[in-house]
Amino acid sequence: MNNENNRGQWASNLGFLMAAVGSAVGLGNIWGFPYKMGANGGFAFLIVYLVLVIFVGFATMLGELALGRKTGLGVIGTYRMLNKKFAWVGWLGFLSGFFILSFYSVLGGYTLRYAIGFLMELFSEGAGFGGMGSGEFFGSFIINGGANLLFHGIFMALTIVIVMGGIASGIEKFTKIAMPALLVMLVIVIIRSVTLEGASTGIAFMFAPNFSAFSEIGFMKVLKTAAGQMFFSLSLGMGCMITYGSYLSKQENLEKNALIIPIADTIFALMAGLAVMPAVGAFMSQGVEGISFGAGPGLLFVTLHQVFSVGMGGFIGNLFGFVFYFLVFIAAITSSISLLEVCTAFFIDSKVQKGQVANRKKITIIVGLVIFLIGIPVGLDGLGSGVAGGATIDIPAVVFGMDEVRVAFDCWLDFYDMISEGVFMPLGAILMSVLIGWVLKTNIVKEEVEASDGIKMKAYAFWDFCFKFIVPIGILFVLLGQLDDFFGLGIF
Ligand code: PFF
Repeated sequence: MNNENNRGQWASNLGFLMAAVGSAVGLGNIWGFPYKMGANGGFAFLIVYLVLVIFVGFATMLGELALGRKTGLGVIGTYRMLNKKFAWVGWLGFLSGFFILSFYSVLGGYTLRYAIGFLMELFSEGAGFGGMGSGEFFGSFIINGGANLLFHGIFMALTIVIVMGGIASGIEKFTKIAMPALLVMLVIVIIRSVTLEGASTGIAFMFAPNFSAFSEIGFMKVLKTAAGQMFFSLSLGMGCMITYGSYLSKQENLEKNALIIPIADTIFALMAGLAVMPAVGAFMSQGVEGISFGAGPGLLFVTLHQVFSVGMGGFIGNLFGFVFYFLVFIAAITSSISLLEVCTAFFIDSKVQKGQVANRKKITIIVGLVIFLIGIPVGLDGLGSGVAGGATIDIPAVVFGMDEVRVAFDCWLDFYDMISEGVFMPLGAILMSVLIGWVLKTNIVKEEVEASDGIKMKAYAFWDFCFKFIVPIGILFVLLGQLDDFFGLGIF
């Protein structure tokens, strides 16, 4: 609609794809996917995951891209323009971006700290991690508020610098270099990982089909885990793809792009699994102390640190440690720029709509600074390890002032995650599919796809069915699953 204004536009479809896949591929792929797949039935989990990508992921992706390109606006502007009653849904997305980025940036800071640590170890032993063991270093790092804020600050500053550059000359230019580099580094780590003695233990943990996991863990629980993972991993539900879609030229094929992004994201997730799990399995089976298929922060920052520093050890260990954490850092920053862009776009749109010239640099710096400030409690509470006075957050007491259902969060990261990933994102996505499938009708997506010269929508009936039924029901499931996880409701 208004790509001729000063909002910016992708220079090429390939550039757009690099940015969109960069957004999708992040900590979720490297940190979450390998463990979740291994612990929830391996290959059996993968089948469930793929079914969800096909029936929920593709359509949600197409819906977001189409709405964004149609309006040429960010998430708030898009909902506001399409339907006044749905305007608040845009705010859900905007706020999700705010909260996710505020903790994502702290974690991104960790990856940077670890990459620098291994780099320094290459030159002088003990320079990077002070001669400490993996668990000891991690424990001391997360309670070091000053260091956390420093790296959170650096990570946020780098994110700001890229977004300040604009769409084609900032985000696209960066991701066009970063994504191929990420791929190359990942392949290098995979080759090292799968050729280690005992790697097959890890490959078996991740890939061996274990259909009995469905009855042991419960099929619904597996489904819930897969759905939540897919959603976060594809950057869906908070208008990120609406925003990126708004910078796409009318000439590009939306239907094709909506298939490519989830496929690439899934391939990256599987590759990340091949980089991580065989190495963990190898050293576990060789009996190296402190290595097991754990989850959460422990896997990425303790187990893998142990893999590189003790398992591989020496120069090679430090070298691969550096390459690995640097690639995780790159994956994280290509996601964080998309989160910041969601927030920045709103203020740029507001200016443009008033007919004024938007100062992208100024807006990006201010928004980024505010997000940095919101992330400070996350950086200071040591992931709930007891600094800053324990940092237990009692939700009913804080938010509702009531006492009956007490949910205490151990740390600010969980609290922010609950608000964004737990509630706002799934709710936003359900409402988007209802808006498309029932209020505006799927034709709106068809029209936008066919707005490109000579392009005909190929699978209208499929998309229509997805928007009307599968996506809302599928995501309702994510929402219930998230609430169940965060509040321990015991639904599943
Ligand atoms: N997809 C990213 C990951 O897997 O780490 C996280 C993310 C980025 C979520 C952007 C949402 C978003 F809008």
